[in-house]
Amino acid sequence: MGLRLSWILMAILALGVAGYALINLAVPTFRNPFVLNIFTHSPSAISMHLLGGCIAMIIGAIQLNSQFRTRYISIHRWLGRIYVLAVIVGGVAGFILALNSFGGLVTHFGFGLMAICWVGTTLVAYWQVRNGNIQAHRDWMLRSYALTLAGVTLRIYLGLSALFRINFSDFYPVLSWICWVPNLLIVEWFVLTRLCKTSNA
Ligand code: HEM
Repeated sequence: MGLRLSWILMAILALGVAGYALINLAVPTFRNPFVLNIFTHSPSAISMHLLGGCIAMIIGAIQLNSQFRTRYISIHRWLGRIYVLAVIVGGVAGFILALNSFGGLVTHFGFGLMAICWVGTTLVAYWQVRNGNIQAHRDWMLRSYALTLAGVTLRIYLGLSALFRINFSDFYPVLSWICWVPNLLIVEWFVLTRLCKTSNA
């Protein structure tokens, strides 16, 4: 699949999940019992989480488009700052939600570590660009957005588990890890193969 086609597919999935998050935030009657329960015990955290996650998801997809970056560099810079803020808000709220998440200790650690990595990779990416290290900035942004996309992969795996009639309570703790660790490994593989190619050139 070409790079352009992969970007379009990714952007459609990202828009879909961002839309789902936004509807949950804005339309209380849309919320399913699982989401309603989160709104009951942590209304501020889930609201901040959905808002931050939704903004990061949409901006991140735009920022990854290389044509957009080269044409509109000053917009890229401003959107980048908003992305960092959105991840901080969504990630801190995600960490608070992780402490209460469904599924016990395994999910608390899975989502908790994911939140730390999400904010951490984003701050390192920002710090790299402030120091003029453009290639390192790109690599860390890829890691950051791979974690943002966990919002998409989680829902793909959840759909598949329903299709194969896997018990939700058994699967949820596994989901809190597989929705993000493979995403990061794929980015590491991508960064390493690029490094190998450039050192052999
Ligand atoms: C990448 C770091 C993220 C972390 C650590 C994280 C963590 C969490 C946690 C712990 C919950 C509550 C689950 C429970 O109570 O069992 C939650 C719910 C939710 N999150 Fe995230 N999340 C992240 C990213 C995102 C993104 C990028 C979106 C999309 C915009 C998103 C959308 C949602 C939605 C819609 C819910 C409500 C539950 C549902 O409908 O599945 N999250 N998140």
